Amino acid sequence: MINFYVLALIYLIGSITFVLGLKMLSHPESARKGNLIAAGGMTIAIFGTIFLDKSIGNYLWIFGGIVIGSIIGTFAAKKVKMTAMPQMVSMFNGMGGACAAVISIVEYSKHDFSHGGPWAVATIMAGMLIGSVSFAGSMIAFGKLNGNIGDKVFPGQKFINLVILLTGLGIGVYLALQNFGNNTLLLIATAVALFYGVMFVMPIGGADMPVVISLLNSFTGVAAAFGGFMYNNQVMLTGGILVGSAGTILTILMCKAMNRSLFNVIAGAFGTAGGASAGAASDKGTVKEISVSDAAVLLAYSKKVFIVPGYGLAVAQAQHTCHELEKLLEEKGVEVKYAIHPVAGRMPGHMNVLLAEADVPYDKLLEMEDANGEMPNTDVSVIIGANDVVNPAARSDKSSPIYGMPIIDVDKSQNVIVMKRSMASGYAGIDNELFYYPNNRMLFGDAKASLQKLVAEVKAL
Ligand code: TAP
Repeated sequence: MINFYVLALIYLIGSITFVLGLKMLSHPESARKGNLIAAGGMTIAIFGTIFLDKSIGNYLWIFGGIVIGSIIGTFAAKKVKMTAMPQMVSMFNGMGGACAAVISIVEYSKHDFSHGGPWAVATIMAGMLIGSVSFAGSMIAFGKLNGNIGDKVFPGQKFINLVILLTGLGIGVYLALQNFGNNTLLLIATAVALFYGVMFVMPIGGADMPVVISLLNSFTGVAAAFGGFMYNNQVMLTGGILVGSAGTILTILMCKAMNRSLFNVIAGAFGTAGGASAGAASDKGTVKEISVSDAAVLLAYSKKVFIVPGYGLAVAQAQHTCHELEKLLEEKGVEVKYAIHPVAGRMPGHMNVLLAEADVPYDKLLEMEDANGEMPNTDVSVIIGANDVVNPAARSDKSSPIYGMPIIDVDKSQNVIVMKRSMASGYAGIDNELFYYPNNRMLFGDAKASLQKLVAEVKAL
């Protein structure tokens, strides 16, 4: 009996650490500690369950699994490149979904159908169906982000997907209502749910995967929460609900920051058009270039400079060189700040993480709204590998796919320098009219190489 109360206390502590950890994740300065606190809570919940729950045996298998999983997880997390982080999140999320599905399948095969009634079986079915969709969907998302899988769109796809979804749900409901064991039907329902996960993610554009991963993440949370109901395990329930709701909120926030509906994301077909070639002229005006030495002079003799980082900064891994340039300019008396767009890069907080890696002080990072207020008093805005998040079409062109997306108003600063390799479009696949503005000049080249040259020039001044 004493074990029961100790375990209940451990679960309470675990649940509190999850809530606390999640809260601390909302600020970069406390995020690391928050992550460790929640992981600590999870660790005591796992070991508490293993040693205090009387129904658990099989220690060899359990610890074998823990050791193998920990080695693989640690190795993968240490090795992963920052730009491959979304893939890794997708892979780990898929594993969570698979766990939820597998425990449901195992519990179904052991279920005592004379107790619990249809609701107990419905809980098992929900965990299996949602977990399977999340697993299969996450694996496809992983493949797309990794460049192994392309988008597959064919006529009638939405209708076929609906039929597959209804088939899986129908079998689940049938099994719950029948309330007797039918392992063959259970495995068919699992296969249908896995197939649905594949078909659901297949048509969605690779660049929309972060939103899809966040959505699948919330599915995994919900599937785990059903596991919590199934085992009457409070900490699993709390963890699952927190992941489910946090994933849902994040999905909504991402869609809002891109000014797109979730339906529009799921329908796919975003980010397909190409861009013009470097130095091209168009009916919008002429694209002017700037040399590295002119850019260095302009920056070094400015009072205030904003750096706007984007996906290209992460691709070029130029965050350290960027920080070096910032420090050099500050030594010359220039005030340098960073303007951070909420969806710059390819995952939430991408730019914050990237700049934190280079030890850029957090108080130098301004959120979009605050930075926009300072743009008219800014001498130079330097755009490094960003494109869509500074495209003025979002404010003025109603026909643009990004119309309505809030942007960083770099065009309102006195001078703009855009650092990228070509005139190619960004994620949204559209031309950027900023490149043709009279106060804009392009510094073509890989962000890291250009920044290194700029640093050398500024040093020589
Ligand atoms: P993008 O609009 O995608 O533009 C990135 C630019 O970086 C490209 O135009 C590319 O131009 C340049 N680039 C790539 N590699 C480079 C390199 N090595 N050196 C220099 N430049 C390089 O990026 P953004 O402005 O950060 O906007 C993010 C986009 O992703 C938004 O449309 C957003 O809605 C979307 N999105 C974001 C998220 C999250 S949560 N962050 C999730 C889903 C979608 P070149 O090829 O010419 O160099």
